[in-house]
Amino acid sequence: MAPPPQGDLARKKIYPTIWWLFRDGLLPDATRVVGFARSPLTVELIREQTLPYLKVTSEDGPRLAEFLSLQSFVRGQYGDEASFRALDAHLRGLPGGDRAHRLFYLALPPSVYTPVTQHLRALCMGQGWNRVIVEKPFGRDLGSSEELSAHLSSLFCEEQIYRMDHYLGKEMVQSLMVLRFGNRIFGPIWNRDNIACVVLTFKEPFGTEGRGGYFDDFGIIRDVMQNHLLQLLCLVAMEKPASTNPDDVRDEKVKVLKCISPVELQDVVLGQYVGNPEGPPEAQKGYLDDPTVPPGSTTPTFATAVLRVANERWDGVPFVLRCGKALNERKAEVRLQFREVPGDIFARQCKRNELVVRVQPCEAVYAKLNTKKPGMYLRPEESELDLTYGSRYKDVKLPDAYERLLLDVICGNQMHFVRSDELREAWRIFTPLLHQIEQRREPPIPYPYGRGPPPPPPPPPPPPPPPPPPPPPPPPPPPPPPPPPPPPPP
Ligand code: BG6
Repeated sequence: MAPPPQGDLARKKIYPTIWWLFRDGLLPDATRVVGFARSPLTVELIREQTLPYLKVTSEDGPRLAEFLSLQSFVRGQYGDEASFRALDAHLRGLPGGDRAHRLFYLALPPSVYTPVTQHLRALCMGQGWNRVIVEKPFGRDLGSSEELSAHLSSLFCEEQIYRMDHYLGKEMVQSLMVLRFGNRIFGPIWNRDNIACVVLTFKEPFGTEGRGGYFDDFGIIRDVMQNHLLQLLCLVAMEKPASTNPDDVRDEKVKVLKCISPVELQDVVLGQYVGNPEGPPEAQKGYLDDPTVPPGSTTPTFATAVLRVANERWDGVPFVLRCGKALNERKAEVRLQFREVPGDIFARQCKRNELVVRVQPCEAVYAKLNTKKPGMYLRPEESELDLTYGSRYKDVKLPDAYERLLLDVICGNQMHFVRSDELREAWRIFTPLLHQIEQRREPPIPYPYGRGPPPPPPPPPPPPPPPPPPPPPPPPPPPPPPPPPPPPPP
């Protein structure tokens, strides 16, 4: 019989992250790791199932053995008080006992959040700090999310709740704040007078890959746009916070969100991938061919939406959010496109400037600008100021987003976690659209796996430059010299 599986997130992300933090000496001394689940797991089974994801090297042997000796497992039922009493007794029996801090990572289906959090609050609180990490989905729309928030806040205070959006743990996402507020050169141009549009992109080169059952209930807007891309938008659009205090930062993000009206269907394009007969075997299967997807599903796997931030800084600047699965590449980036230089003297040969923050892969910040094409002539050419992290920071290993965020929870820093009012605003912006899409049930635009939907028609070309003025007429010929005076009379 196959061993009972551990949850996907626990196996692929949570256990490996704890191991990397432990291996690098970043976990507090005397940390213990306790698994709690309905399945009849054991520490040994957990070890087997997580091992492929731990990236263990030959030198890690003794350290790994030490890590495994810190683990234990309690089996229990999510709705059963006795199971949580047993969990609490187990925790009290570990070093530090009642006084130890307790961090509960709820890597659970949303359907069991209510009983689990109630039992944790009632039966498993220690005398040190008690914190809970919750993962998305935080509800399906404004109503269900508010219900969940009300439930959580009836049990825990906001300082105890860590809502995880792992994009906030990524190197380049965190670097946006430093780039914006640590450089004099960007402040004066970061506004509607200079920026023509902002494009936020998330692309993945694979489809749902057996996760279709989960995905189908949510779709790409809930899975990526409403959280990861909207967080990027906030970091690009927000004003400078009073300080780097987590609440100062989150206050500014909420202010941006409050200036965004709900997205309208007319500003959205939806797509769903279909098999690409010319692609490799996995690309030949469309979304509807995934056996876990209900037949005829109209759930989008691709979406583009235009959002507008109606405040003094951004009025009139479109923020284009694009995300999709089964596209041509893996990429997440922020792209600011600047307006054209007024008073052109180069016969329209200059391209618009762009500033790009590439979140992944190959973290980079680069600016596209026009320079003189090297050589004899005075001709502009598009070039780049390029800060590619792989070249600039050769020996630096960038930590994984989960590592950073888990450490933040241990340190009690909520800056990179979603506050309840931020979440409410995010759902306010997307809920009417999501409901409309679900009521209409119109099939999204099909696009071949690996290619994406056809791009929107290009904007009309700019008008040709005015013809040069005609050359001035040649000067009139000089008047003939006056006739010589008549000879004097004899
Ligand atoms: C998750 C989504 O939040 O982010 C997944 O649920 C997506 O569908 C993933 O694949 C992408 O994360 P990353 O870090 O690989 O860009």
